[in-house]
Amino acid sequence: MAESSMQRSKLEGKVAIITGGASGIGEATARLFADHGARMIVIADIQDELGQRVAISIGTHRCKYLHCDVTDEEQVKALVDSTVQNYGQVDIMFSNAGIISGSDQILLDLNFSQFDRLFAVNVRGMAACVKYAARAMVEGHVKGSIVCTGSVAASHGGKRRTDYHMSKHAVLGLVRSASVQLGVHGIRVNCVSPCGVATPLTCQSYGKSMEEVDKLYEPIMPLKGEALRARHVADAVLFLACKDSELVSGHDLVVDGGFVNR
Ligand SMILES: NC(=O)c1ccc[n+]([C@@H]2O[C@H](COP(=O)([O-])OP(=O)(O)OC[C@H]3O[C@@H](n4cnc5c(N)ncnc54)[C@H](O)[C@@H]3O)[C@@H](O)[C@H]2O)c1
Repeated sequence: MAESSMQRSKLEGKVAIITGGASGIGEATARLFADHGARMIVIADIQDELGQRVAISIGTHRCKYLHCDVTDEEQVKALVDSTVQNYGQVDIMFSNAGIISGSDQILLDLNFSQFDRLFAVNVRGMAACVKYAARAMVEGHVKGSIVCTGSVAASHGGKRRTDYHMSKHAVLGLVRSASVQLGVHGIRVNCVSPCGVATPLTCQSYGKSMEEVDKLYEPIMPLKGEALRARHVADAVLFLACKDSELVSGHDLVVDGGFVNR
């Protein structure tokens, strides 16, 4: 095999689930996993039309869309069960679905219905995905890799988005505990923590276009030259998902151009 094609086949034969895979970082990761020879990528999301479109554009022989609201434990269980039933196992879980509240959520005005909704997705949903993927890996004797999407918001406090900052700190706690508990089964659990990337999530949060969001983030990243893109985050997820990181577990891989150390 030519070296370049070996380099592009880091996930040969692997079955992966990506939550929040219809858009942004999840979509970019689904495309990269396909480029790296994953046998099947199951995109799980609540945006059915978009998710179907992404699966079709990747190719339905190696990418399927499934509706799954991660706030519903039964739907998460069904997602994992159907993946095992149809494709034999789960090697990789990229638990990535996440939201931002519709208002600033500063502490003095904290809206608890938005807070509860955000925690249901970003924390409870994340834990459900880790739980059922880990169960399938243990039962199938699969030494799999679980990657959760955290954020640089887990490395510092914020002037606003209190609930989002809290939720991403909780993701780190989940990843660290899960890595300790699942290590005995040979299962690795890690976190990827991006800085600001222009995606539908951030555009909606600021009420701005992709280009405008790029301009907002440009001054805050110490590393100059290129804007942080979803594909840069996908590269880090690929590293954590494949054998290149075979002894890395419980780690928070920040993809931030030096932001947290500024
Ligand atoms: N974009 C950034 O700057 C940034 C920075 C740090 C962390 N993150 C995190 O990255 C992850 C992906 O965000 P993104 O920026 O790609 O945004 P995005 O909005 O493009 O993608 C998020 C996806 O999650 C899906 N989703 C939302 N609620 C869901 C639910 N209940 N069940 C299943 N799917 C659901 C959405 O439909 C969407 O497709 C999130 O966890 C986010 O917190 C993003």
